[in-house]
Amino acid sequence: MTAVQISPEAEIRLAEAAKNGNQPIVVNNANSKGGVGKTTQTEELAHRLAEQGKWVLVMDLDGQCNLTKNLDAMPTSPKQPTMHAVLTEPGMDAMRAVVQYTGTTSRPVRYANGGGLFLIPGAKTITKAPGEFFGTRARQPIHDFKLTIHHVITSWLMGFDFILLDSSPDPDSEVNDAALLATHEVLVPVSVESMSIDGVMEFLAILRASNASRPSFKLTGQAHLKALVPSKVMPDQVERAGEVIATLAQHNIPHFGDLYVPYTTAGWKAPDDRVPIALYRPDDAAALVYQQIAAKLL
Ligand SMILES: Nc1ncnc2c1ncn2[C@@H]1O[C@H](COP(=O)(O)OP(=O)(O)OP(=O)(O)O)[C@@H](O)[C@H]1O
Ligand SMILES: [Mg+2]
Repeated sequence: MTAVQISPEAEIRLAEAAKNGNQPIVVNNANSKGGVGKTTQTEELAHRLAEQGKWVLVMDLDGQCNLTKNLDAMPTSPKQPTMHAVLTEPGMDAMRAVVQYTGTTSRPVRYANGGGLFLIPGAKTITKAPGEFFGTRARQPIHDFKLTIHHVITSWLMGFDFILLDSSPDPDSEVNDAALLATHEVLVPVSVESMSIDGVMEFLAILRASNASRPSFKLTGQAHLKALVPSKVMPDQVERAGEVIATLAQHNIPHFGDLYVPYTTAGWKAPDDRVPIALYRPDDAAALVYQQIAAKLL
């Protein structure tokens, strides 16, 4: 068990921060291509930001629940609220669904500088949430599913410094649409092996359409494309990663200079533990790149 219920002290601290006008930065880890490193990026960045003393909440928006499984935070009781409960009852105090990541028995996590890592666990049934919400929308605080995540964050979760969203690869997911409307910064991991500029343009079109719909929802600001990040770059793909970065530059698509995430042969997950790689191999080349990216979010 690596996630425990949030302590009353933590709840008080979060409520105080919210009362004092704290505004979380919402970072969406998104790409409708599967297996490119969204979940890995989410957990590594969350861990690194918590190391920097930040209060970080991660929302698992994918029915595969990989993030929740990776952090060993799958609910142990069917009564435990998950993202499914949060999205179908956005009027519910979402803090009830938040658990705190504490590492594992053999690798307990104690973040220096007062940081903390929290999670709202995913649910297999999350894909059913939009339909269920529709059936009960008359008694919900907002009547459009697309606004659920924004509503939940601004109503209950303002005390966090960062909220990291792990989107699913489903291009038609209404949960992803809701995530984009709650997003400040978008980080897109891309596979250099299959990156096509058409695929990137398609994602940028989704982002533009989402931003264009914001005024009608009376939301302020826009989701800003922070960067595309070549990820899982094998040693024999380094040259290709350079070409991808050059293509991004040519099209004025944001990226982090020469930065890419190398493929790590170290074995991504600790063999006996479910922890971010940065925790058990802090010097791993990929883990260090995520540390650099986390620094760019601060
Ligand atoms: N830099 C890396 N080096 C080696 N393996 C990696 C790296 N990044 C991710 N992986 C592995 O690749 C697989 C896919 O990564 P991940 O789950 O993060 O992608 P994803 O985009 O979230 O996938 P999905 O679209 O299914 O949600 C996982 O097994 C993960 O451990
Ligand atoms: Mg994933």
